[in-house]
Amino acid sequence: MTVHPYTRPRRLRKSSAVRSLVQENHIRATDFIVPLFFMEGQSAKEEIPSMPGYYRYTLDLLVEEVQSCFDLGLRSVLLFAKVKDALKDAKGSEAINPDGLMQRAVKAIKKRCPEMYVMTDVALDPYSSDGHDGLVENGEIVNDASVELLGEMALSHAQAGADMVAPSDMMDGRIGYIREILEEQGFPNVGIMSYAVKYASCFYGPFRDALDSAPGFGDKKTYQMNPANAEEGLTECALDIQEGADVLMIKPGMPYLDMVRLVKEKFKVPVAAYQVSGEFSMIHAAAEKGWLNLEDAMLESVIGFKRAGADLIASYFAKDIARLLKS
Ligand code: PBG
Repeated sequence: MTVHPYTRPRRLRKSSAVRSLVQENHIRATDFIVPLFFMEGQSAKEEIPSMPGYYRYTLDLLVEEVQSCFDLGLRSVLLFAKVKDALKDAKGSEAINPDGLMQRAVKAIKKRCPEMYVMTDVALDPYSSDGHDGLVENGEIVNDASVELLGEMALSHAQAGADMVAPSDMMDGRIGYIREILEEQGFPNVGIMSYAVKYASCFYGPFRDALDSAPGFGDKKTYQMNPANAEEGLTECALDIQEGADVLMIKPGMPYLDMVRLVKEKFKVPVAAYQVSGEFSMIHAAAEKGWLNLEDAMLESVIGFKRAGADLIASYFAKDIARLLKS
């Protein structure tokens, strides 16, 4: 018998032209959030050993990097400060210094490139001598006192000119508390991107090298989520929306694409996926060994986020991809 299927999906894969006609998802430079690391000093950049081709910049070079991202069509950055050891203490005091590195970075970027949308990481780990996202008392990460400090931290970022704050700490009730402070203090238009579904993941390793922010003791499992749980992530999202979050983030990205899809289907708000440091480094490592093609792997990994339902993608590949899209 001869095979004559009437429906032949391969008809629409016959040529590059027809494939592009029926392509469902696209990536654009404006989908991306560029994570950026910076440090004190002058005219210097340091490569992060576990993140090939990714750097920490002094502020004078950081603003040029931001401008070059803007020129490539990228429209948002997410800032992470590498704080000197001498400034770290148990209270994370430097986090709320109006003249701290983060606050100066926001001001410098807004001055050099006012149209870039500036997001800031809100968590204590780069500032705390304990390396935890919240305050530590008697070996425990305490919730409510941490939330008060995180509220002050978010306010100081808003005062410096941040467009959106991104609490990545996973304390309970922090979105509502931050929203309330921003409203009361005259910043109703500062957005909140909540790291709503953030897992206790091994894929943050290279990031902790970048900021020298590994926990001093224990792990982050009493505040970040168990990788085995999905429903709990939906509860986190429902709380954060109710408390006033504008964007919900899922993190890491690739191992949690199911969560991106679930959250997008259930909540009608913008969803962000964070392709974290370990995902970036893993693709680079395989490419260095000649086991994967770097460009193909980065493009395929980010289109996966769009297909899963992400509106925004935080990725260390953002600039490389923006360059590819332009060429
Ligand atoms: C800190 C924070 C982390 C990341 C973003 N904000 C690390 C952590 O929670 O330990 C990870 C980002 C990455 O790995 O790219 N609160």
